[in-house]
Amino acid sequence: MELNEIKNIIKNMTLEEKIYQLQQLTPEFFQNDIETKLTGPLQEMEIDKNVINNTGSILAAYDAKTIKNIQKEYLKNNRNKIPLLFMDDVIHGFKTIFPIPLGLACSWDIELVEKCASISAKEAAVSGIHVTFSPMVDLVRDPRWGRVMESTGEDPYLNSQFAKAFVKGYQGDNSFSDIFKIACCVKHFAGYGACEAGRDYNTVDISERFLYEFYLPSYKAAIDQGCEMVMSAFNLIDGIPTSANKKLFRDILRNEWGFKGVTISDWNAVEEILINGVAESKQDAAKKAIEAGIDIEMMSTNYANYLKNLVENKIIDESLIDEAVERILTLKNKLGLFENPYRTADEELEKKYHLCPEHRATAREAAANSMVLLKNDEVLPLKKDAKIALIGPYSDNKNILGRWSDRGDPENSITLKEGILSKITYKDNLIVEEGCKLNQKQYDTNDEQLLNNAFIACKEADVIILALGEDEDMTGEAASRADISIPDNQIRLAEKILEAGKPVILVLFNGRPLVLKWFNEKMSAILEAWFPGTEGGNAIADILFGDVNPSGKLTMSFPYNVGQIPVYYNSFNTGRPKIPGEDNKYTTCFLDIPNEPLYPFGYGLSYTRYKYSNLSLNKESFTYGENIIATVEIENIGNYSGFEIVQWYIRDIAGSVARPVKELKGFEKIFLKPGEKKKVEFVITEEKLKFYTIDMSYKAEKGRFKLFVGGNSVDLIEAEFKFI
Ligand code: NOJ
Repeated sequence: MELNEIKNIIKNMTLEEKIYQLQQLTPEFFQNDIETKLTGPLQEMEIDKNVINNTGSILAAYDAKTIKNIQKEYLKNNRNKIPLLFMDDVIHGFKTIFPIPLGLACSWDIELVEKCASISAKEAAVSGIHVTFSPMVDLVRDPRWGRVMESTGEDPYLNSQFAKAFVKGYQGDNSFSDIFKIACCVKHFAGYGACEAGRDYNTVDISERFLYEFYLPSYKAAIDQGCEMVMSAFNLIDGIPTSANKKLFRDILRNEWGFKGVTISDWNAVEEILINGVAESKQDAAKKAIEAGIDIEMMSTNYANYLKNLVENKIIDESLIDEAVERILTLKNKLGLFENPYRTADEELEKKYHLCPEHRATAREAAANSMVLLKNDEVLPLKKDAKIALIGPYSDNKNILGRWSDRGDPENSITLKEGILSKITYKDNLIVEEGCKLNQKQYDTNDEQLLNNAFIACKEADVIILALGEDEDMTGEAASRADISIPDNQIRLAEKILEAGKPVILVLFNGRPLVLKWFNEKMSAILEAWFPGTEGGNAIADILFGDVNPSGKLTMSFPYNVGQIPVYYNSFNTGRPKIPGEDNKYTTCFLDIPNEPLYPFGYGLSYTRYKYSNLSLNKESFTYGENIIATVEIENIGNYSGFEIVQWYIRDIAGSVARPVKELKGFEKIFLKPGEKKKVEFVITEEKLKFYTIDMSYKAEKGRFKLFVGGNSVDLIEAEFKFI
C-alpha cells in the first residue's frame, strides 16, 4: 500500500477511531465473553466496546491460534478493516530460551547475538507476533537493580554493538519481505538504568553530558540500524517522566536522530505522569504524553478517554493524533498486514520451528559462550571418570531460563544433573543432593536433613560441584536487592560442604553481578553460568569437562562489596587518584575496601593462557583523514585451544572536559591453538577519539592519547600516540 492510501484511510476515520488506534491492550479484552467485561475491566478503565473494536494493538498474546482468532473477530467489527498489531516481550528467546541478555553479552560475539535474535524472531513470527519489546539497551552500573539481567552491561560502545546486533537479528534488512522477521522496539528511552540506588522505577538525574556520552549511544545505535519502535521508561529524567519528555521524544529522537517510527509508553506510564506529580489530571497526563511524542499508550486509557475532549476544545491540535496514526498504520503496512493480517501465524510452522534441534544447538552454543570462568585453581576441566558430588538447589532444577522468558517452558530445559550425566563415563560416579532450598523463605524442618545428606555425599567424592544462585524472581522487573549476596542458607550449605575438605567448584545461576568475596576466597573454581536458558545444563557440562574452553568476559563489574556501588571501569580520574602501593590517606579511596571491583569489566579466565606482546603503532601521530594502525601479538601459551577476546581501550590524556581513565573502542574474538601466535590489528581513526567537548559538540580534540590492549580492562599493555 502506498503512503497516499494510508492517508486516505486516515481521512475516512472518525476522530474517535483514530484515537483508539493509539490504544494498546492485553488479549483478555478481545477473548470470550466481551459482554461480561463491559461491567468488569472495561468499566474500570472507563472504556467501552467501541474502543475494543478500534484498538490499534495488543500485547502479550502469544500463539498462532489465539492471535488468528482475535484478528479474525476484530476485523469483523472494525469498520475501517485496519488489522491489529501484536506485540510481545521476546527478550532472550521465544520458546527456545537463550541466556539472559547480560549473559549473552559476555560472549562478546556480535554474530552469535544476531543469530539468537533471528531465531527468536522466527519462533515468535510463526506464533503471530509482529513486534518484540526488545532490545533493552539501558546502560547499567548498579547491580542492585533487578533489570541489569536484561541489559548488555556498563559500556556504551559494547552496548551499541549489541543493540545493532539485536535489531539486525529481529528485523533483517528492515524490509520485512522475509516473513520470519519481526519489527522491534528499543527500550527504555532513556536512562532507566541509572535509577537511584538501583531501586526499580526510581528517579534518574544525570547531566546532559553523561546522558549523551554514556546513556544515549545504544538507543541511537538501535535506531541507526532501523529499529521500528521506541518505548519510554518508567523514570523521571531531569524532573520529567520520560513519557512526558518532549526533549527526549521530539528534540533528540525525532529532530536530532531523524527517527520516523512508532513510539510507545511503557505499561501504564502515561497514567503515572499524574502520579509523578507532573500532570494535574488524567486529561493533562494524556495531553503531556501526546505533546511529548508518545504514539501508543500501553494499558492505561487516558488517550482513549481524554484526547477527544482535548481536540474538541482546541487544547491540542488534531494533527498530533493524525501523525501518530499515520506512523502506526505505516508500520502495519510495512509488515504487510493490510494484505495478510495473519502474516506468519501458522500452527504447523510453530510445530516445525519451536525448539527445533537447530535452535537448541544455538542455545547451547550461546549458553557456553556466555559463561564466565571467574576463578580456577587448576581444578577445571574435570575428568570424565571423576567421582562427583553435585550439591545445591540448582543441581537438578529446571527453572534456569531467567525472567522475561514467559513463553519458554522450564519443562524443556536441561538441568545441570542431566548435562553432567550425558558426559561422565560411569553414571554411578555422580551423587546429587539438593543441600538446601533456594532461599530462606522456603525453610522447613527438613533443612538439617538436606544439609547432612549433602555433607555425606561430599565425603565420598573426589570433587564437589556446588550449584547455587538467586531465585529467578530475585531478578528482572521489580526485583531490586539491597544485599546482592548469595542467600544466607546457601552460604551455610557452602560452609558445611567445605568441611569435607574436597575441592569445590561453584556454578552460579543468577541475573546480576553478586558480591562473591567470601566465595572467591574459599572455592577452588567459580563458573558464572547466569540464567543459561533451555540448554543450560548441557552447556555448563560442556565447560566443566573441557569440551568447550570458557571464553566469556564480564560486561559489568562485580563489586567487592555493596558499599562500592556504582563501580565501573570507564570512570574518571579524581584530582587525587590512588596510586597502588602508595600509602597516602588523602587520595580517593575507602578506608576499609579497595577501589577496584572484585572482578573487573572484560574479565574472564580460560583453561589456557594468552600472552600479549609487541604492541606497535605504524606512526606516532595522525591528523584528520588519516589513521594509525596498531598491531599486537597474542600467543596461546597454555595447553588448550581457545577463543580470546582482545580488547582495545583508549584514554584521552587531557581534554576540554575530563575523560574516562579508559574507554573500550574495539575488540576482536580470535581462536588460537596451543603454541599458536596471531597478530591483531586495530585502526585508530578520528572517529574513535570523538566525544562531547566543552560546548557539547561531538568531535576529536588534538593532543596525546594512550592506547591499551589486553584480555580485560585491567591487565593491559600500552602505547602512546598523538592526534595533531
Ligand atoms: C513493563 C516493562 O518495563 C517493559 O520492559 C515491558 O516491555 C512492558 N512491561 C510490557 O510487558
